[in-house]
Amino acid sequence: MAVPAVSCHQVSKVWNPDSASPLLALDDLSFEVERGEFIVLLGPSGCGKSTLLYMIAGLESTSSGTIECDKLPVTGPDSDRGMIFQEASLYPWLTLSDNVTFGLGLRGMGPGLRREAASKIMKKVGLGDMLDKRPDELSGGMRQRVAVARALAMQPKVLMMDEPFAALDVQTRTKMQDFLLQIWRDSGASIILVTHSIDEAISLADRIIVFTSRPGRVKKDIRVDLERPRSPRDPAFHALQDELSELLADEVDRAFADQQRSETGSHTA
Ligand SMILES: Nc1ncnc2c1ncn2[C@@H]1O[C@H](COP(=O)(O)OP(=O)(O)OP(=O)(O)O)[C@@H](O)[C@H]1O
Ligand SMILES: [Mg+2]
Repeated sequence: MAVPAVSCHQVSKVWNPDSASPLLALDDLSFEVERGEFIVLLGPSGCGKSTLLYMIAGLESTSSGTIECDKLPVTGPDSDRGMIFQEASLYPWLTLSDNVTFGLGLRGMGPGLRREAASKIMKKVGLGDMLDKRPDELSGGMRQRVAVARALAMQPKVLMMDEPFAALDVQTRTKMQDFLLQIWRDSGASIILVTHSIDEAISLADRIIVFTSRPGRVKKDIRVDLERPRSPRDPAFHALQDELSELLADEVDRAFADQQRSETGSHTA
């Protein structure tokens, strides 16, 4: 069998374990991501999706369980694993060319080669003529494309994206989804993307992993066997929308009930 790109085995995360109120964010979570697979994580707010991405990125440690990439345990950040956040975190004082090749510079690549790499990668994201602009000259959608370019410049095997299009308007968001699918096919990387949008999940994913409310566990792992490009008018798309809405509604209700219980508890304490 092929080696999975990412493998999470019985992963749990407790935040502030030594405090008076430790918080179990993720509990006994296991799943695998195949090479080149597009995974979407869907779940109620606070169920630990971002926490999981940070741990796969090596920015946080697990409390128990193991995370492996290409069968090697994750012990810290690595350029094989790229991360893109909701707001593109570009360096405002650097040109776009220097922003996207910042990591290559750290790897020791000289200015000439960096410029060449920037030109190639910025063309891929449709911003080939903007190398010398600075981030504040761009729209939100463009900034997110630069963030994608910067991640791709490092040729990651796994690209993690935490609600990357949440701040964009609906039209730009749809365009960015098409663009991302194209980039994904060209790069051969695995993608793990977090979203709150059911439609975005169905439009993009090979597999959708639905989380329970906190502590996050895998509630359902759904393979999306629809041809791309996918149309919301397709009855199979509708069927999935219904299934996912129901799964999520259950968990959001549970999260609310838990929150109310703990608030009532703290009032009467
Ligand atoms: N650095 C931290 N220290 C302590 N607790 C944290 C930390 N980061 C997250 N948490 C807690 O862990 C739980 C999971 O948070 P996380 O941000 O992973 O959820 P999420 O699923 O990404 O939510 P959202 O959909 O709102 O982004 C939450 O209860 C949160 O308060
Ligand atoms: Mg989050």
